[in-house]
Amino acid sequence: PFVVTENCIKCKYTDCVEVCPVDCFHEGPNFLVIDPDECIDCTLCEPECPINAIYPEDDVPAGQEAFVALNAELAKAWPVITTRKDSPADAKDWEGKAGKIDLLER
Ligand code: SF4
Ligand code: F3S
Repeated sequence: PFVVTENCIKCKYTDCVEVCPVDCFHEGPNFLVIDPDECIDCTLCEPECPINAIYPEDDVPAGQEAFVALNAELAKAWPVITTRKDSPADAKDWEGKAGKIDLLER
């Protein structure tokens, strides 16, 4: 499956959700995750993210391995999102910032 990684936190552009043919994106307060049990590896979402937050599970950036388990866990807790919505007003300020995992809201 594909995995949403740290750069999505507090940016949450949601361009990714509309292309998923199996509706496997789930939305939390400031982050999105992919349900690994639903993802069919179609690859469509990966290029949609303007800040490259989406990776195949086997190609997650070094140091971000925890996001594989986080996607699986949070997908069970959060509702499905299939429609694009406005990103946070300060999303641009958070692009590429390190340590955003500490700001993840559940
Ligand atoms: Fe959905 Fe395809 Fe992305 Fe998996 S790879 S989350 S099925 S769009
Ligand atoms: Fe996040 Fe990128 Fe989707 S910022 S919401 S993974 S388009």
